[in-house]
Amino acid sequence: MSIYLDHNATSPLRDEAREAMLAAYARVGNASSVHGLGRAARALVERSREAIARHFVTRAEDVVFTSGGTEANNLAIASAKAAGAKRLIISAIEHDAVRDSALANGMDVEILPVTGEGVADLAWLEARLSGWNREADGVPFVALMAANNETGVIQPVESAGRLVREAEGLFHVDAVQMAGKLVFDFAGSLAHYAALSAHKAGGPQGVGALLLACDAPLTRQMHGGGQEKGRRSGTENVAGIAGFAAALDAVQAGEPARMVALRDALQLRLESVEGVRIWGAGADRLPNTLCLSAEGWPSEIQVIAMDLAGFAISAGAACSSGKVRKSRVLEAMGASAEEAASAIRISIGRTTEQDDVNRFSEAWTREYARVRPRLAAAV
Ligand SMILES: Cc1ncc(COP(=O)(O)O)c(C=O)c1O
Repeated sequence: MSIYLDHNATSPLRDEAREAMLAAYARVGNASSVHGLGRAARALVERSREAIARHFVTRAEDVVFTSGGTEANNLAIASAKAAGAKRLIISAIEHDAVRDSALANGMDVEILPVTGEGVADLAWLEARLSGWNREADGVPFVALMAANNETGVIQPVESAGRLVREAEGLFHVDAVQMAGKLVFDFAGSLAHYAALSAHKAGGPQGVGALLLACDAPLTRQMHGGGQEKGRRSGTENVAGIAGFAAALDAVQAGEPARMVALRDALQLRLESVEGVRIWGAGADRLPNTLCLSAEGWPSEIQVIAMDLAGFAISAGAACSSGKVRKSRVLEAMGASAEEAASAIRISIGRTTEQDDVNRFSEAWTREYARVRPRLAAAV
């Protein structure tokens, strides 16, 4: 069995989530049915909605369940377009679920740059919003993720939210990677929308939510039975929603500190290896994420070598087809094309032990030392 160091791709299902889902699967009932069994399913959905809302400091009625983070991001962007946004500002490090949705909606997209540490440049945003031409460009719409999936770098969403609110714009936060790892205060972010995904937080795959501020316009994308108060049609994934809430309820206060200790110990060992560059280490990061480039060693070769050695890690930028691309995120941080193509992401989690980290650093360092002379000769 591989040692799993890829929690940002998906985190193992928490026991509490599995139990909640098995209990829900043992029952029958469509949450829209009028009979008692349907009402019991509805009650479970609503209890879960309240629990999830509490975690993100918002009201239960402002939680719209979706099939995951991708759908939640798409719903926010399509709603903004329907509300009059024509031009979208997205950070240079947004996930494809935001970037491609913006492009697919036919809106002009402008890129909010990031610093060398991977933090959104708010001076740029302030200047851009102050010169906004509302007549030509419609309502300003800004998307800034809470924390980046590749580097873990945490973004100044509260300050960005203030700027967007002052400009009377709409603000969207992709909080998929933050949820379950650190507290994400939706109310405090001043965002109109926030996307969540259960499976990054130890819940099941295929369920997520869009959080809505009370003044956020929403235009439904899924038409049909009118579930979720007409905001997202489709029979609710009752067991998945119960698992999502149970996963968040199971998060222990000590988890982030424990992960930071393991991640920092790993970083300390790897950063001293010649040819290694750590990304985002000077910024606040998620407690579990370490992103590095290894000179001359292509990302996909590292991932395969580590897989053969018994470790599951990810390339800096892996897409859903399993192919590895050059990291757009690292390029935005000033990485050379070569650095961006030799990046890996190690993302630990609550199940990671000190021994896992020790074994990984030994195996990775040994393999790099073995291949490095050949890589250098090939250049
Ligand atoms: C930052 C971010 N946003 C959105 C998504 C998509 O979420 P989901 O897998 O639930 O569709 C991911 C998944 O990798 C992500 O990391």
